[in-house]
Amino acid sequence: MSAALLEKIQTLKKQRNAVILAHNYQPGEIQDMADFTGDSLGLSVQAAQTDAEVIVFCGVLFMAETAAILSPEKTVLLPDKCAGCPMADMINAQQLQELKDQHPDALVVCYVNSTAEVKALSDYCCTSGNALELTQRLPEDRDIIFVPDKNLGGFIIERTGRDMILWPGYCSTHMRILAEDIAAARKEHPDARVLAHPECRPDVRAIADELLSTGQMLKFVKTSGVNEFIIATENGIIHSLQKQNPDKQFYPTTEKAICPNMKKISLEKVAWALEDMQYQITVPEPVCTQAKRSLDRMLQVIPK
Ligand code: 13P
Ligand code: SF4
Repeated sequence: MSAALLEKIQTLKKQRNAVILAHNYQPGEIQDMADFTGDSLGLSVQAAQTDAEVIVFCGVLFMAETAAILSPEKTVLLPDKCAGCPMADMINAQQLQELKDQHPDALVVCYVNSTAEVKALSDYCCTSGNALELTQRLPEDRDIIFVPDKNLGGFIIERTGRDMILWPGYCSTHMRILAEDIAAARKEHPDARVLAHPECRPDVRAIADELLSTGQMLKFVKTSGVNEFIIATENGIIHSLQKQNPDKQFYPTTEKAICPNMKKISLEKVAWALEDMQYQITVPEPVCTQAKRSLDRMLQVIPK
């Protein structure tokens, strides 16, 4: 069944001249079948550079929107139209405009986990993979508004010492990882290093050994001399970590760290997406051009 489905996807992919991109939190069989897996930054780079005519985005809506903004001439498909990101929906354009009106001289940095309209109202966009490098480049005499993630924002403040005006958004999946889960996992695996995502709560960030985007976690583990890791992010990344490092051990912090939206994508839905060319994600003008400005600035900061 699965082999026939995989074959069908391959055939349709060739017919449509499509590329399949998958985020590190996708179900294992989706990551295995995709042409590229990666973090939000890596996938944005792929979406901007691909020669394919069709991009099937195995992820959530803001990722497909980002691909559509970066490659407006391509057809971008999201296999499940209900795969959204609750954090991205925690601030809308009107709320951001009101915040900007309160701080008219501030620069606005938005996390890529945001709607196209919010990106259009922002000066810069960033991902967790380049947030520190991007913020450090901003002029010191300007206030900074950071939306929507208060946790990634808090992490940037802690690391750069730069004060920022934060919006109180958060990732409901990362919020389910508690400091007591880390303590219990450490007790069980005393030799393991704790890798946490900056979207985690402040008390989780405070006790982690490393704070990394999902792409940075994959790089870190590959070159680390350590063999055991406690992974404080969405559990889907453990699939790639284990596949790339078969001799190392990975432990989730809690079974609750599953993003229900990321898990809405399935092999069947990818096949249907290619068959019926659905669901097409487009970003209307002038939002598309305005949002592209902040995304282009994001792509200018690619850490080594
Ligand atoms: P990264 O893969 O960029 O670390 O993103 C985490 C995330 O929550 C994406 O929705
Ligand atoms: Fe949004 Fe969190 Fe899911 Fe990422 S893991 S898509 S930030 S809800």
